[in-house]
Amino acid sequence: MARPIKRFVCQSCGAVTNKWSGRCESCGEWNTIVEEAAPAPGPAGGGLSRGGKGRTLDFAGLTGSTPQPPRYRSGIAEFDRVCGGGLVVGSALLIGGDPGIGKSTLLLQVSRQLAERAGPVLYVSGEESAAQVKLRADRLGSTSAGLYFVAETDLQAVEAHVTALQPRFLIVDSIQTVYLPGLESAPGSVSQVRECGARLMALAKGRGIATFLVGHVTKEGAIAGPRVLEHLVDTVLYFEGEQHHAYRVLRGVKNRFGSTNEIGVFEMGERGLTEVRNPSGFFLAERPKDAAGSVVVASIEGTRPLLVEIQALVTPAGFGTPRRTVLGADYNRVCLLLAVLEKRVGFPLQSQDAFVNVAGGARVSEPAADLGLVLAAASSYLDRPLRGDLVVVGEVGLAGEVRAVTGLETRLKEAAALGFTAAVVPQSSLTDRGTHPLDVQGVGSVDEAVKVLLGP
Ligand code: TYD
Ligand code: MG
Repeated sequence: MARPIKRFVCQSCGAVTNKWSGRCESCGEWNTIVEEAAPAPGPAGGGLSRGGKGRTLDFAGLTGSTPQPPRYRSGIAEFDRVCGGGLVVGSALLIGGDPGIGKSTLLLQVSRQLAERAGPVLYVSGEESAAQVKLRADRLGSTSAGLYFVAETDLQAVEAHVTALQPRFLIVDSIQTVYLPGLESAPGSVSQVRECGARLMALAKGRGIATFLVGHVTKEGAIAGPRVLEHLVDTVLYFEGEQHHAYRVLRGVKNRFGSTNEIGVFEMGERGLTEVRNPSGFFLAERPKDAAGSVVVASIEGTRPLLVEIQALVTPAGFGTPRRTVLGADYNRVCLLLAVLEKRVGFPLQSQDAFVNVAGGARVSEPAADLGLVLAAASSYLDRPLRGDLVVVGEVGLAGEVRAVTGLETRLKEAAALGFTAAVVPQSSLTDRGTHPLDVQGVGSVDEAVKVLLGP
């Protein structure tokens, strides 16, 4: 018998090598490389058996004859949309998020719906006992038939349960707690997570079970574990939110069966998560009227327009480097925009502390929010409010120019629907009048926008 080839795995980044070393060549971390025993063989017929594997197919015929994959809807619209319009048969989803954010709650609610509408669901928990899950289920209301629970961490036992029950949906909560006894490393280590993930994927593809893998990820994404699965699974969703806010956002970051960056908004309450159908209204609910430093931007998350309020507070700094604190937006982006405001408009922000916050705990991630961030800072610095019924869109370049954005019509329609009456947009995006009732003004530069909106 051939001697098994040794494998060494970095427990920090997941890199695989065939020799041990004190320092990982991929991520540079010290003492993270451990030897990994060869994995036990997978179930018979394992491997990611996709349609037509091992045969060459005529590409034209392939694209012409592939029907849309069948999907199961949970009936929770915010969830279904993030999944690309429902769960695809045999697909594997990874749901990441901070511990305690509500992943188990969400999946229990989804499972209940799926069990009712589409067939048996097996919920495998490696973290909580049946009694604990029962408590949560009671809190969420009545249970449904077809929803099965097992507290198990041994993956081979999980596979046996799947074989016995033949569920249509499988939930593994969490991937960090299940393990293969044949592997030497501890549950949650990169090797365990990767091997268990691959086995579960094979199970999902082979039997057409839609499988959810829950992964705990810290804010910094420091736990490498679940991340090594991101390239393997079909869909990666992140469940996010601020601990002290009730709202939660389910964000699609990868989807082989739908558009990415789609979001679903939920509110965590006494009896679990409820859908927020009008997130713009939700995020703008407590907006102060006529406050300097407050600007509403019309952003787009995935295919959906979302209005959020950006707040800035610019105050004289003490000694030394001025402070910059940013919540809900990219820190470096805000620093860049403050530099643009200083250099192109002439505000002496080097002597000012700047605090930027996206209200309600929301996040803005697209460049179209740039102009809003700049105007919020300018408005706070000058202590002059912008008009309250105005929304702002535009990307800002380093030369101070305001650049075109996509989906302007969608953004402005959402603004009109929420009662806004005026908009400031990039000059270059103003090609036709559009079908919304807003009073639209185009601006070409940050300097122009500040002069037009806040006076000379
Ligand atoms: P949980 O789903 O256990 O989080 P995760 O699986 O991501 O670790 O949710 C835990 C939090 O949610 C916990 O702090 C309690 C809160 N929660 C509610 O506020 N209302 C509810 O109805 C439920 C079930 C949980
Ligand atoms: Mg949990």
